[in-house]
Amino acid sequence: MSNVAISVENISKRYSIGDTSSGSLQDAFRSLVGRRGAQKTEEFWALKDISFEVKQGEAIGIIGKNGAGKSTLLKVLSRITEPTTGRIEIDGRVSSLLEVGTGFHPELTGRENVFLNGTILGMSRDEIKAKFDEIVDFSGVEKFLDTPVKRYSSGMKVRLAFAVAAHLEPEILIIDEVLAVGDAEFQKKCLGKMQDVAGEGRTVLFVSHNMAAVSHLCKGGIFLNNGSVKIAGDINHVIDHYLQESISAADISLNSRKDRKGTQMLRFSSIEILDIEQRKLSSVMSGQNFTLKLKTESHRASFNDIRSIKVSVGINDSKDNRVSYLSNEITDQVFMNPGKFDSIDIAIPKLSLQPGTYSLTLFCKVNNEISDWIQNAFYFKVEPGDFYSTGKLPPDNQGAFYLDHTFSLSENVVFE
Ligand SMILES: Nc1ncnc2c1ncn2[C@@H]1O[C@H](COP(=O)(O)OP(=O)(O)OP(=O)(O)O)[C@@H](O)[C@H]1O
Ligand SMILES: [Mg+2]
Repeated sequence: MSNVAISVENISKRYSIGDTSSGSLQDAFRSLVGRRGAQKTEEFWALKDISFEVKQGEAIGIIGKNGAGKSTLLKVLSRITEPTTGRIEIDGRVSSLLEVGTGFHPELTGRENVFLNGTILGMSRDEIKAKFDEIVDFSGVEKFLDTPVKRYSSGMKVRLAFAVAAHLEPEILIIDEVLAVGDAEFQKKCLGKMQDVAGEGRTVLFVSHNMAAVSHLCKGGIFLNNGSVKIAGDINHVIDHYLQESISAADISLNSRKDRKGTQMLRFSSIEILDIEQRKLSSVMSGQNFTLKLKTESHRASFNDIRSIKVSVGINDSKDNRVSYLSNEITDQVFMNPGKFDSIDIAIPKLSLQPGTYSLTLFCKVNNEISDWIQNAFYFKVEPGDFYSTGKLPPDNQGAFYLDHTFSLSENVVFE
């Protein structure tokens, strides 16, 4: 195993749907009377034949749609549930933060739970004591330390649980979506702490839907789809794949749109979003470089009749407010006597729109006459991305755009 922290070989996990019993007493009773109850059970494979290896000190992001099997995989790795088949080898003390409150005993106080968790991790009382203040400080629940955890809000529970998981010096830290629970400030703190842990050479497995956080923290990634590994490798490559598949609306035909205006000498036929390697994307990330490909067709005229093409694209947000406007008149790139072509490509470097859903209104003039005009021709999604290359983004509801900026201090020099 030398420097391998986690080795997973062909694991699968089967759940029975409709079988409400997981209690062994009921199961025992049913097998005694020789039946499984009136309810029909159905088998469902939440994980299918998963294999991968994580080296010591690697930070790996696990991404995928809701229900893909991410949490199930983490539960299996944390030994909270057994895989149905397959083998797992783990070399190192594991500390995991899965669902809110897992690992806490509700009747015990916050203080008692910290010691309980440390003991489970194999730490001595003195070792835990040495970390105690840091944990309390990080969690911000000092006032409630002697209150039973069952009286904590879910935010408080997750704060303490994260503080415990991250500070008790596990060799392997497994975190499921904790960033979705706390407030923005706490999320940033957690990310920073996970980075410290990874930087100290410990192994981190991190599940999140926040691509900015995942891409900043993790070097490697695993994209789970319907319980199987769809692709694994470099995190940015894996994220790209995930985004490509997350919306299937990329190549929408516009030919069915009857509510368009203009002579139709030249008309838009479909729109695609392409990454810098010309692969189709189903959504883009803030900060990403991409190309909007407006496919065109020209039935009514030969290309020789086209002397000039002016194109504009209006971008509206989900409340239909115009947020930006692109035009080849503004960029001084009106196409003159273009000859034959079948798409108009707009390169957009470092997308500054914040996450959300946007629509595009397309407009073009041929020889100074309106040729095609389609309102809200195309909808696309902007996902959180690492715009500032720090893995951090402003809190939600702080505007519509990101702006590059730098901070500095200066002093006014006074001459005597
Ligand atoms: N105890 C269970 N019994 C039956 N089915 C389950 C059980 N736990 C999970 N599943 C099913 O297994 C599949 C994978 O669930 P899982 O929670 O691992 O998904 P996930 O990738 O974590 O999703 P999300 O992004 O929503 O957190 C889902 O279809 C879920 O309904
Ligand atoms: Mg989950």
